[in-house]
Amino acid sequence: MERTLSILKPDITRRNLTGAVNEKIEKNGLRIIAQKRLHLSLEEAQKFYAVHKERSFFNDLCSFMSSGPVVVQVLESDNAIEHYRKVMGATNPANADEGTLRHEFAESIEANSVHGSDSLENAAKEIAFFFSEIEMVG
Ligand code: CMP
Repeated sequence: MERTLSILKPDITRRNLTGAVNEKIEKNGLRIIAQKRLHLSLEEAQKFYAVHKERSFFNDLCSFMSSGPVVVQVLESDNAIEHYRKVMGATNPANADEGTLRHEFAESIEANSVHGSDSLENAAKEIAFFFSEIEMVG
């Protein structure tokens, strides 16, 4: 079993789509073993996305991620990191395959509905950013 960090972004909470996304996550065989709704400050978003701080889109990304509530969650399945990335679809929704979360829900490359960890190392860091062990119940 593997764990990955998922974020339902402000475009999802704004349109009241948390349950719709969670239904798809669960139907795809991922178990939501921890979940909470937060409103990140700009500083918290900058800290979470620090790996992207040199990228041209960093400021816009952090202001979007702090523009409204997010739902952070830990997902568990076999091969959860790669599996959830397939369930999410391509970063740019214009390239996301039919049936993926981003194809169905995303508004743009910035407001792209969901985040998922991209490696084992980042998953461990990202999960620890939001959750303690006692909050994860498989
Ligand atoms: P995410 O998986 O949350 O990780 C970084 C985010 O930056 C990414 O999803 C996109 O929503 C956002 N982003 C905004 N603009 C770009 C861009 N030009 N290229 C890649 N990611 C971008």
